[in-house]
Amino acid sequence: MTDRYAVIGHPVAHSKSPWIHAEFARATGQDIAYRRIEAPLDGFARAVDEFRAAGGCGANVTLPFKNQAFHYCRGGVSPGARAAQAVNTLLFGRGAVRGENTDGIGLLRDITLNLGRAIAGKRVLLMGAGGAAQGVLGPLLAAAPQRLVVVDRDAGKARALAQRGGAPAGLGYEELGGAQFDLVINATSAGLAGEAPPLPAGAFAPDALGYDMVYGRDTPFLAMARAAGAEARDGTGMLVEQAAESFLLWRGLRPDTAPVISALRQR
Ligand code: ATR
Repeated sequence: MTDRYAVIGHPVAHSKSPWIHAEFARATGQDIAYRRIEAPLDGFARAVDEFRAAGGCGANVTLPFKNQAFHYCRGGVSPGARAAQAVNTLLFGRGAVRGENTDGIGLLRDITLNLGRAIAGKRVLLMGAGGAAQGVLGPLLAAAPQRLVVVDRDAGKARALAQRGGAPAGLGYEELGGAQFDLVINATSAGLAGEAPPLPAGAFAPDALGYDMVYGRDTPFLAMARAAGAEARDGTGMLVEQAAESFLLWRGLRPDTAPVISALRQR
């Protein structure tokens, strides 16, 4: 019998997850079906309950429900999901639902394995203090950077996130001074509005990587990184890697991500 999965979000029509998981299933010979479920803004738990009752095996959760998914998982959440206060992967067992968060590991795998960049010993700047930044802060710290600074337009928000997540520093952009970073990660939603964060151009160290977690578009931040002589990468690889981690949790095997990342870039 075909095992059924879904991505639950609002909106969800744009989600590339069904295509990615179909590619994984084809490549690994797994018999699964994967669809989109658009839950009403006040109806996340009901949508999950219905999908479980209909025989679903698991689900991905996307915006704006990742924090609600965390609270939904009375069956338990992974330490990573607890630190992020967000769940993007649900595993339906008998009676209980387990929650995991694969966003952080997806980002780490893309940066270190696909892009061949070390995080250990490097100076890392994480821009943004919303859900996207919170989701990746713990895994970034665990990768042992020499320095990790959280920066936000609202310095108080940056400080609060840094304190909650155990990062040494949270600053406003104007407090960065002339500090330089080897890895600048854009976890803000600025790119979605066609804007760039107010980052000083001198923030990119020589041979830096500028990484935008937004995918599928050339954001003003990426242009800024290129103009500063940095390598610029969007979040396509992170998207596919977080999906591969979900697939691994559900199916027990890791699909090869490289062909899916390059196919997605060409779509
Ligand atoms: P998400 O869950 O995607 O992180 P969010 O919680 O709404 O979404 O957070 C959006 C983040 O993007 C915030 O850190 C926001 O900065 P503020 O706290 O200063 O509002 C950041 N952001 C959005 N537009 C931005 C812009 N043009 N420049 C810099 N940061 C921006």
